[in-house]
Amino acid sequence: MEKNLASTTLTVALGERAYPIRIGAGQRASVLQRLRECAMERRPVLVATCPPVAECLADFLREAEAAGARIYQTTCDGEPAKSAAELSRLWEALAAARVDRTGMVVALGGGVVGDLAGFAAASFLRGVDFVQVPTTLLAMVDSSVGGKTGINLAAGKNLAGAFYQPQAVFVDTDMLATLPPREFAAGMAEVIKYGLLGDAALFARLECGGKFDWQHSELTGIIERCCAIKAEIVKADERETAREGGRALLNLGHTFGHAIEKVAGYGVYLHGEAVAIGLVLAARLSAALGLLPPEAEEKIVAVLRTNVLPVALREPLSAEALLAAMRLDKKVRQGALRFVVLTAIGQSATREVDDVDLLRRLWVGVGAE
Ligand code: NAD
Ligand code: GLY
Repeated sequence: MEKNLASTTLTVALGERAYPIRIGAGQRASVLQRLRECAMERRPVLVATCPPVAECLADFLREAEAAGARIYQTTCDGEPAKSAAELSRLWEALAAARVDRTGMVVALGGGVVGDLAGFAAASFLRGVDFVQVPTTLLAMVDSSVGGKTGINLAAGKNLAGAFYQPQAVFVDTDMLATLPPREFAAGMAEVIKYGLLGDAALFARLECGGKFDWQHSELTGIIERCCAIKAEIVKADERETAREGGRALLNLGHTFGHAIEKVAGYGVYLHGEAVAIGLVLAARLSAALGLLPPEAEEKIVAVLRTNVLPVALREPLSAEALLAAMRLDKKVRQGALRFVVLTAIGQSATREVDDVDLLRRLWVGVGAE
């Protein structure tokens, strides 16, 4: 880790595909510098973003244009923008901007823009350079790092995509100033997840930190720690092929969370809100399996509540529908459900669970019926 007054640089150590994550307030200047360098080398650059981000970061985009980049906006916001139709439009925009094999795609936005633009970069001309500039907390600590890119299909989320690592990630924490508080809180669910799955000291910092917002004095350090944990996990198991543990640990709370998103209808719960309830359920499952002391759950619930995250369903959902949705999870292996469980706060493992009655009781415990 390299640190100076203004920023920290971490490395995702993937051999010849290694790349830096630069973190700090004002990193947009480094992005603009990169754009100017591309212009001097006559490399065409397209910055892909979505309408709300284009509005909030209009000044930055004007500077990006002045530095020689073309700007492209998706036609819609949020999950619907991760579609085959939007991908096709973005490919056409890359062609219209005459992006060639020396060219570069810059994703400026949350996880939606990052996943879409990353897949476009992976597939246009069979692969052009790609830089991530995340603008949500979730994207800063999770989706911009690790190279998972893709779009949704009618059959489900993230079903088409590619592993395609960026050349660099620039995390400018000032870009969080305009992020709606509910979106910020959703990102905190992923931050809390990192503490739980692999770093008790990080979890303790979150316990002591009170309610986080974009100006919290510890936020940059917390983002650095989350990115460092993700970088280590990705380095060890880039394509999530480890039989036990590995990259799958990043899905702590997600088997439950994905089921909530699907059964409630996408958009009713933000991803991070569903993950927050999933973290409570993962803790209860771990306690029921005798792996985690029951008092750990209280600590987890307290941190989630402090950060204005739900710890139970807002409206009842069908327990049977939730169980059925979990069976469709990508982590199901030969019919057995695989969960990330906690063996302590800061320690996790993967486990197969086939006790459907236990899972049903857990769902009822958070308000399913
Ligand atoms: P998002 O990209 O939809 O952004 C959330 C909302 O915030 C949107 O309305 C967006 O326009 C707005 N927004 C973004 N930045 C803003 C800013 N600075 N100011 C004001 N508004 C801003 O959602 P997200 O939570 O960032 O990402 C969710 C997506 O990420 C999902 O599709 C999920 O599948 C994906 N994801 C991918 C990975 C991965 O490893 N690739 C990991 C986790 C999640
Ligand atoms: N967010 C899960 C992963 O990157 O693997």
